[in-house]
Amino acid sequence: MKRVATVLIIVLVILQFVPALPESSPEPQATSLLQNEKLPENVQSILAKACNDCHSNSSVWPWYAHVAPVSLWIGHHVEEGREHFNLSEWENYEPKKKAHKIEELIEMVKEEEMPLPSYTWLHSEAKLTMEERATLISYFESL
Ligand code: HEC
Repeated sequence: MKRVATVLIIVLVILQFVPALPESSPEPQATSLLQNEKLPENVQSILAKACNDCHSNSSVWPWYAHVAPVSLWIGHHVEEGREHFNLSEWENYEPKKKAHKIEELIEMVKEEEMPLPSYTWLHSEAKLTMEERATLISYFESL
């Protein structure tokens, strides 16, 4: 038992040195939906608090995100989130891709699939009220 515990601790220590989180950089003015002047402020603030950490390149990491194995798990979610829908690269999307993402977004927000429950569990400010969901839906439906 003692040997197993020692090995586990060694593995955990080594894991701390494995880079797990994708890079984070400031929002690019030209392509970010969040920086778009036409984006209503209430929509901007909902996206910023509830979606930005997984769906943009400007994720903000809480302290525990740096601790393995949590870092590996969060890093994977964010990589996948960015790949599927990236607010920072919105203006690089073709009109057809934008239309498809908008459709997906409306569905995800309606069905309460986004933001992911594992995220709102630790970020209570990201738990969306029905009103906030309605704000997102009516804005994206109007595009
Ligand atoms: C904790 C990370 C996380 C948060 C926070 C989050 N998402 Fe996601 N999102 C993901 C991941 C991972 C996927 C891809 C896998 C899946 O569909 O479950 C995804 C998929 C999506 C997709 C689907 C894109 C496609 O092409 O299928 C949309 C749209 C989306 N999210 C919108 C949102 C919106 C809007 C918010 C905020 C209200 C949000 N997400 C918050 C991680 C997150």
